[in-house]
Amino acid sequence: MTRGIILAGGAGTRLDPLTRVACKQLLPVYDKPMIYYPLSVLMLGDIREILIISTPKDLPMFRDLFGDGSSLGLSIEYAEQAEPRGLAEALVIGEAFLDGSPSCLVLGDNLFHGNLDFFRAALRENTGATVFASEVRDPERFGIVEFDEAGRVLSIEEKPEHPKSPYAVPGLYIFDPSAPARARGLQPSGRGELEIADLICSYLEEGKLTARMLGRGVAWLDTGTPDSLLEAANYIATVQKQGAYQVARLEEIAYQRGFIGRAQLLEQAAGQPNREVGRYLENIPAR
Ligand code: DAU
Repeated sequence: MTRGIILAGGAGTRLDPLTRVACKQLLPVYDKPMIYYPLSVLMLGDIREILIISTPKDLPMFRDLFGDGSSLGLSIEYAEQAEPRGLAEALVIGEAFLDGSPSCLVLGDNLFHGNLDFFRAALRENTGATVFASEVRDPERFGIVEFDEAGRVLSIEEKPEHPKSPYAVPGLYIFDPSAPARARGLQPSGRGELEIADLICSYLEEGKLTARMLGRGVAWLDTGTPDSLLEAANYIATVQKQGAYQVARLEEIAYQRGFIGRAQLLEQAAGQPNREVGRYLENIPAR
């Protein structure tokens, strides 16, 4: 079974002074801490064994928030990243946790909303590594994937000055069990980081990389700046106020995916200090 890693460290300098109070991935996106959203994606992919990686300073707050994960029918472990030495270091830090399993790495500041069938299919069908691609207007800000006419991947580049395509790679990656060994073998880049692009390229060079388009049914939201954080919050608020359902309500997802039973859901509902959330959980229809 695929195990999940959420990378939730880093400095969050573009959100300073907000990030002096709490790390970026714990800041609110409308009515929940940011990390709820990437965690919900792993859960919707039926990934129940999860490692949260963060800084030594912030890790205790994540532990307070989720504990061992059992209230959500999950098993959550925690590990420190002493310095922000790159996204690919998550696979090195997570090697013992993964214990030879395939993995799915999600960045703690990436939000996805919509039909996640693409993600479940990718988890099922992954052989080497799978990344996703989404057309953006500002490709110099992202990892960029270039395709040939047949849709095969030609290159992956991190924040290129002259992007070869408009297709950004979101912070959601699926790897076979060889990823930790590959990550260990990487050399730090000029900026001193183990680059996720280099890890992905090692699969590309062996013809083991798949890139799938995200499609229009999925919104991928950025939260890196005060403006994009506000826009993401407004997006979630709009979805929740227009419709009858909430985004990333973790107890609901745990129940719907069969990680917890009805009794445990109702117990969670009764224990909610926020009665509005409690009532929402009580009113979830039986599976
Ligand atoms: O959001 C998708 C993009 O995420 C991808 O398109 C890029 O290829 C990928 O590099 C990444 O770009 P960012 O500019 O967002 O990378 P950043 O260095 O800001 O790190 C992303 C998140 O991971 C951020 O919340 C901080 C955290 N982080 C970062 C590093 C380098 C860590 O927890 N540890 C780290 O060592």
